Amino acid sequence: MYKYEHGGDVYSSKTTADGKEYIDFSANINPLGLPAGVKEAVKSALKNCVNYPDPFCRELRTATANYLQVAEENIFFGNGAADVLFRLVLALKPRRALLLAPTFADYEKALRSVDCKINCYDLQPQRDFKIGKGILRAITTTTDMVVICNPNNPTGQLTDRELLLKILNKCVEVNAKLLIDECFMDFVDADRSFSMRDLLEEYPNLIILKAFTKTFAMPGIRLGYCLNGDAKLHEMLYKHGQDWSVSILAQEAGKAALQEQYYLYAAFTLIKEERQYLINQLRSLGAEVYGSHANYIFFKMEQPKNLDVLLREQGYLIRSCANYHNLNEDYYRIAVKTRVLNRGLIKAIKEVKKNALFAGNH
Ligand SMILES: Cc1ncc(COP(=O)(O)O)c(C=O)c1O
Repeated sequence: MYKYEHGGDVYSSKTTADGKEYIDFSANINPLGLPAGVKEAVKSALKNCVNYPDPFCRELRTATANYLQVAEENIFFGNGAADVLFRLVLALKPRRALLLAPTFADYEKALRSVDCKINCYDLQPQRDFKIGKGILRAITTTTDMVVICNPNNPTGQLTDRELLLKILNKCVEVNAKLLIDECFMDFVDADRSFSMRDLLEEYPNLIILKAFTKTFAMPGIRLGYCLNGDAKLHEMLYKHGQDWSVSILAQEAGKAALQEQYYLYAAFTLIKEERQYLINQLRSLGAEVYGSHANYIFFKMEQPKNLDVLLREQGYLIRSCANYHNLNEDYYRIAVKTRVLNRGLIKAIKEVKKNALFAGNH
């Protein structure tokens, strides 16, 4: 039977045994929730839903191009970044790809759906899960596609532009596409010095994946896109899927979200402060914290075992990272939320640690 393996599963069981609603730290979305302007835009767009949506997302495309300072024709929208990812691999049909380990699971899932062979570049805890120059040797003439998640999920680790440029040039040399997933870049300090989007025109083999999902807390609306300077690839993307994958509601939500400058500033400020709070608290509880430059924290906690299961009993969902390549059941990822919720989670971790100590599970 098919197994759902992401965070954010708030449907399988809604409450704890004693009826408490779960607080979900397992999906990394903006803790400020859906912006008010987006809610309004979705409500008022309902009346237009008797029509099909614009297959070219023209208004949203113009707004996004202005917002990101990229050319309109370089943007392709889809039903979330995951949808764009599957369409990309269907259009390109790479035969061999290089992925980081660990990284977001859907790259492998999408690539396997077109029978692509996967090579892994293992990230090391001793190097704080950072990519090293050794990756250049792993890109060979048989590589058709390299995927780098920046910042990486689940580690929250960043790769700097200097190394990315070397990877990009190596990809040009071996005629491979470089897909950089920047879905979490909006939460990073000085994202401009890490994003590669200014190189789209110069490097047609560069594809950048982005989404409204995490930045504007709208995973349920489904809106993502890719940026790429290759007109032929854009044509292929349109040919490899339905014309209406972005609903009218999603297009209107996207346009409204781009107006939310104060919301973004407030979220960014909150996340920066709360991220540090959580890192300090987790370290004081004996966790090894790595990377964590985005709106989520990646850590190793060896005791107690099954922290995710114990916290679930307390009403908190966190992401066990046991099912990522190159990790084990001691690794976890949590989202950064508001202080009240973060404090609650830390209190629950203290509680389960104490209980485990008494029960001899340490
Ligand atoms: C790194 C990364 N890229 C893409 C996605 C998919 O985003 P969306 O919900 O927009 O499809 C996720 C979802 O968790 C993710 O973690």
